[in-house]
Amino acid sequence: MNNDQLEPQIVDLDNLHEHREIVTFMRRSSPLNTSQRAALEQYRDLILEYPVGDLRQHFEHPERPLTVEIGFGMGRSLVLMAKANPERNYVGIEVHVPGIAQCVYEAGMAEVKNLKVLDADAIKVLKEMPDNSIDCIQLYFPDPWQKKRHFKRRFVAHERMELVESKLMLNGTFHSATDWEPYAEWMLDVLDNRPNLENMAGKGNSYPRPEWRPLTKFERRGLESGHKINDFIFKKIG
Ligand SMILES: C[S@@+](CC[C@H](N)C(=O)[O-])C[C@H]1O[C@@H](n2cnc3c(N)ncnc32)[C@H](O)[C@@H]1O
Repeated sequence: MNNDQLEPQIVDLDNLHEHREIVTFMRRSSPLNTSQRAALEQYRDLILEYPVGDLRQHFEHPERPLTVEIGFGMGRSLVLMAKANPERNYVGIEVHVPGIAQCVYEAGMAEVKNLKVLDADAIKVLKEMPDNSIDCIQLYFPDPWQKKRHFKRRFVAHERMELVESKLMLNGTFHSATDWEPYAEWMLDVLDNRPNLENMAGKGNSYPRPEWRPLTKFERRGLESGHKINDFIFKKIG
């Protein structure tokens, strides 16, 4: 994302009394294309309405391991993962409505049955989940918030990781990836210093890019700009 383009809106947001709460996203209003608009209606059963409570209860097989993806963007990689792993349940959380529409369009076309999506702040959704209930939390190419005064909006931060850890099951994993080197260093610094998390690549290392993680839109953009991709997989050990 080009943060420079978003800058004026962010400054406004920071100064509004009713928006004092620090969020990790910017809501962007972009028009829906025809198939996206139709998909919101046709594949309504794939969309959960906030508040949702325990995400597991919305699946035909609630006992199956749950993966939650935060900020799936346009959702293609999430649909591919859900299709490739029918023995798991997937929930994608996103605040970008064209992304929600595109994701349900692709999931519906691919007849994916183990995926639900919702339009909400992932932090609020996680807070509603019972502790120790999620098998995997994915965060792929989160907004890097490059300017120092916006670092507080970065998703990977100790207070947000405390929430993530409490919702993961023992041995559950947190998987993040970024193409922004300073954010990769930042992630490693936060995650390697969480006593309840174990770096699956060994302290100080990024994880070799797993071939089972499909390419995402922002990853492709990063690669086209010559950026290095860093994956991190951490297991909850306590
Ligand atoms: C840079 S984009 C990456 C999208 C996608 N993962 C990819 O790799 O192409 C980050 C996305 O995260 C979403 N996002 C950020 N914070 C979020 C939150 N707290 N809850 C839900 N979505 C969030 C934004 O709306 C944005 O679409």
